[in-house]
Amino acid sequence: MEKLIAPSILAADFANLQRDIEMINESDADWFHIDIMDGVFVPNISFGMPVLEAINRHAGKVIDVHLMIVDPDRYIKTFSDLGADILTVHFEACTHLHRTLQAIKAEGMRAGVAINPHTNVSLLEDVINDIDLVCIMSVNPGFGGQSFIENTYKKTQQLKEIIVDNQAKTQIEIDGGVNSDNAKKLIDAGADVLVAGSFVFKSKDPKEIVKKLKEIANS
Ligand code: DX5
Ligand code: ZN
Repeated sequence: MEKLIAPSILAADFANLQRDIEMINESDADWFHIDIMDGVFVPNISFGMPVLEAINRHAGKVIDVHLMIVDPDRYIKTFSDLGADILTVHFEACTHLHRTLQAIKAEGMRAGVAINPHTNVSLLEDVINDIDLVCIMSVNPGFGGQSFIENTYKKTQQLKEIIVDNQAKTQIEIDGGVNSDNAKKLIDAGADVLVAGSFVFKSKDPKEIVKKLKEIANS
């Protein structure tokens, strides 16, 4: 299966958002990764509905929304209306995760679950066949530009085993501190999708960086 690259818009230049979105449209990137933070679940506020609406007007690729908010059930329909193709909620923010996953799918989106660095992948085993995407956080969620947590490789391998054992079709996404040094090792551990924010947007040639990550991931 082709391995995918999802640039995180959090690291884009918000004063030149259309320019940066078009740049990603023209690049080898597969998805747009959109980080929504509420200042409660995580200690930061990113952006909300009007910005996603504007992004969706220009984005020509899959929209992968990562909700870092408490009680995400309140906004499932809203994000579907705003154009999300994949809606990822945090394991730690859901009391009734199975119900939340069904509600996301009922709105026609693919259902994702993100797990914080301290959350063991085994906690997902009983719902693994209901999850389209697991987002393993390789930093503590809330900010771009943090350094990669090495334990992520082990978690990725353990999750891959659970997916294979259960004959699930779940994809594994890695989010936080991804760069050209850890990309290959993550893919070898079982990752399918690599999110990259700072490494793409803070570089001199973001399109070239996306191309490089795509090549590494599929080599
Ligand atoms: C962190 C976000 C990430 C972040 C990744 O809370 O979920 O998607 O934007 O950014 P980098 O690649 O800079 O770690
Ligand atoms: Zn994210």
